[in-house]
Amino acid sequence: MRLDVVTIFPEYLEPLNVSLVGKARARGQLDVRVHDLRDWTHDRHNTVDDTPYGGGPGMVMKPEPWGEALDQIIESGDDGDGAAKLPTLVVPTPSGRQFTQALAVELAERPWLVFAPARYEGIDRRVIDEYAERLDVYEVSIGDYVLAGGEAAVLVITEAVARLLPGVLGNAESHRDDSFAPGAMADLLEGPVYTKPPEWRGRGIPEVLLSGHHGKVARWRRDEAFRRTSRNRPDLIERCDPAALDKHDRKLLAELGWEEGPVSEPKGAPLSKGLRRRDRGLESDMPLRGAGDRATKPVDRGPERPEASEHDQGPRFGRPGGAVEE
Ligand SMILES: C[S@@+](CC[C@H](N)C(=O)[O-])C[C@H]1O[C@@H](n2cnc3c(N)ncnc32)[C@H](O)[C@@H]1O
Repeated sequence: MRLDVVTIFPEYLEPLNVSLVGKARARGQLDVRVHDLRDWTHDRHNTVDDTPYGGGPGMVMKPEPWGEALDQIIESGDDGDGAAKLPTLVVPTPSGRQFTQALAVELAERPWLVFAPARYEGIDRRVIDEYAERLDVYEVSIGDYVLAGGEAAVLVITEAVARLLPGVLGNAESHRDDSFAPGAMADLLEGPVYTKPPEWRGRGIPEVLLSGHHGKVARWRRDEAFRRTSRNRPDLIERCDPAALDKHDRKLLAELGWEEGPVSEPKGAPLSKGLRRRDRGLESDMPLRGAGDRATKPVDRGPERPEASEHDQGPRFGRPGGAVEE
């Protein structure tokens, strides 16, 4: 995959030389080219911004340098064989569509991405409109907050996309079980993970992980994914397709305080069937510590443990070798 980034802060993209992305570059799996937008300015001060039409605070990035930069990069895809390759243009902006794992998967299928991270109040709109006539353009937001510039968003998007490319992760399977991974995990967060030693500071690990029983381990992982998602991202549970749940999932979700029923949709849209909290009132009273879990009797995970946050799970799991400790 080829990635071009046009920026007024090329040094901001230095992290693309390290870790997973750096290694993918070194192996030739990623061809990353970082360009300084000011190379396409023609005045003494290398000006890339100007005051906004209509007035108001802040500056807007001028269209001319962006146009020249993008034209030249696009032309570089024409290797003279008559079939010019065209990049996909990715424009980070808080007003874009939400960056999700599904979108990362979509972008990972593209052979060539060109990123246009802005500074100031953004890029003159005509640039995006101009290239949208020739290229696929994705305006992408990495979250509901405003950064000073789009470079950090480029780093985020690049890392999420690069790890999906064939051969980039040591174990090709590993991203299939990740939170949000398309398929069984699409609307779920991954549960807790453990490694050696089997006991650390008096804390054991869940017994089932030592059982060697693949079916039980898979079941436990799925249960933990539902518990964590219910606690931290109930909006994802609401999106779950009830038809994709098995009997055990339904039982667990009922214990966590969920029931099937019509879910709220954006205004005007018809109600669709999904999952909703049975105990909405209770939830709003106790938003931080797993209201869903708390409202139910303990489920099958060894002895009762406090309805813990991610960080205060006590040592009440099974110890290696058998007995479960209270
Ligand atoms: C100060 S912001 C401009 C914000 C813009 N005035 C607005 O309110 O939508 C400058 C640049 O940072 C980048 N940026 C800021 N927040 C972002 C976000 N949440 N996702 C992606 N890019 C972001 C974009 O490239 C944006 O043009």
